Amino acid sequence: MGSSTSSNLVLMMIMILLSCVLSSSNNVEVEGVEKSVPLKDGLSWQFYAKSCPNLEFIIREQLIKIFKDDIAQAAGLLRLHFHDCFVQGCDGSVLLDGSASGPSEKNAPPNLTLRAKAFKIINDLRAIIHQKCGRVVSCSDITALAARDAVFLSGGPIYAVPLGRRDGLEFATLEVTLANLPPPTSSASAIVDQLATNQKLDPTDVVALSGGHTIGIAHCPSFGDRLYPNQDSTMDQNFAKKLKGVCPKKDTDAFTFQDILTPNIFDNKYYIDLMNRQGLFTSDQDLFTFSKTKEIVKSFAINQWLFFEKFVIAMTKMGQLNVLTGNQGEIRANCSVRNPQKTAFLASVVENGEIMTNF
Ligand code: HEM
Ligand SMILES: *[C@@H]1O[C@H](CO)[C@@H](O)[C@H](O)[C@H]1NC(C)=O
Ligand SMILES: *[C@@H]1O[C@H](CO)[C@@H](O)[C@H](O)[C@H]1NC(C)=O
Repeated sequence: MGSSTSSNLVLMMIMILLSCVLSSSNNVEVEGVEKSVPLKDGLSWQFYAKSCPNLEFIIREQLIKIFKDDIAQAAGLLRLHFHDCFVQGCDGSVLLDGSASGPSEKNAPPNLTLRAKAFKIINDLRAIIHQKCGRVVSCSDITALAARDAVFLSGGPIYAVPLGRRDGLEFATLEVTLANLPPPTSSASAIVDQLATNQKLDPTDVVALSGGHTIGIAHCPSFGDRLYPNQDSTMDQNFAKKLKGVCPKKDTDAFTFQDILTPNIFDNKYYIDLMNRQGLFTSDQDLFTFSKTKEIVKSFAINQWLFFEKFVIAMTKMGQLNVLTGNQGEIRANCSVRNPQKTAFLASVVENGEIMTNF
C-alpha cells in the first residue's frame, strides 16, 4: 500500500516534470548556429552594441503590442524578410516604393500579396529607433529582427541575428522579383534545384524554410490550380472540399490559413499537414513526395526541436544572402524611399545638417 502510494507519487512527479519540459519546448533558444553558418564579412552579432544598445528591446516591445492586437501581422513580417532576401539580397529593396511586391505596386501578380501593414510596421519601428539612436540602423536589419521576433512571439525558436546590413539603392523590378521567387505551382525538385543554384541552400534548408508556412494565410489564386479544373489527386478529399468552399472559383479573392491545425502558432504542425496531404501549395505538398525531401519532412513532423534548429540555421543563411555592408548602400532615413542624392559641395552641408539633427 505504502510503496504503491510512493510509486504513484514518483509517477506523478515524472508526469509533472514531463509536462513542464513539453510545454516549454516552444520558445526554445537555438544557440551555436555560428558553428554551422559562417558570418558574412561586415556583419556581426554585436553590431549595434554601442550605437543602439536598446535596438532589440525596442523592436520586441513594439511587436508585442502589435501582435497582441493582431497576431496575423507576424506572418506578414516573416514573409517580408523572405522576399527581401531572395530578391537582390537582404538590402531592404523590397521596402522601396516601386518594388514589384511593394504595397503601392498595382501590377504585382496576385501571389505576391505582401501585407501593406507589414511595410508600415517596419517604417514605424524605424522612426522610433532613429529617434532614440540616430540614423544608424538600416531598414534591412530592422526587417531581419522583426522577422525573428515574429517567429519567436508566435511560439517559435529564439535566436541571435547577425547585424550590419546596409540598405540598397535600387528597388526590385518585376522581372528580377519573379525570377527569384519560386511560384507556389513549382515542384519540390524545381525549388530544390533553383535554391541550390541561386541561394546555395540545400534540401534541408528548403524544407525548413518552407516551414514558415506554419503561420499566415494564402489567397485562392495561389492554390486554385490544385482545385480547378481538376482536383489534384494528392490532396486529401476533405481538405479539397473545404478549400472549394472558400474558393468557389480559381481566382476568388478569398483566403485561407496555411496551417489548418494551428494557424497562428509557429510549430511543426505544417509538416503534419503535409503528411496528412493537407498542404496548401504544390510547392508545399510536393516536399512530401520528392525523394530528396520526404524524409526531412517526416523528421520535422516527429521532432519539433529538430525543425527549430534547422529553421534557425536556414534563416541565418537566408538572412545573409547578398548583404551590403561597410560603406556600401546607405542607412535609409525612410524605408520606402532612398535618401535624397547629394551633389558634391552641398553634400557636406546636408551631411552636417543631418548629423546635427540626428545625434
Ligand atoms: C520555397 C518557396 C516559397 C513559395 C513558393 C512561397 C509561396 C507563398 C505564397 C504563394 C504565399 C501566399 C500568398 C497569398 O496568396 O497571399 C505565401 C505566404 C507566406 N509565406 Fe511563402 N513561399 C515560399 C517560401 C517562404 C519562406 C522561405 C518563408 C519564410 C521563412 C515564407 C513565409 C510565408 C508566410 C509567413 C506567408 C503568409 C503571409 C501572410 O499571412 O501575410 N514563405 N508564400
Ligand atoms: C505568380 O503566379 C503567376 C501565374 O499565376 C506565375 O506566372 C508567377 O510565376 C507566380 N509568381 C510567384 C512569385 O509566385
Ligand atoms: C516616407 O516616404 C513616403 C514616400 O514614399 C511618404 O509617403 C511617407 O510619408 C514618408 N514617411 C515618413 C515617416 O517620412
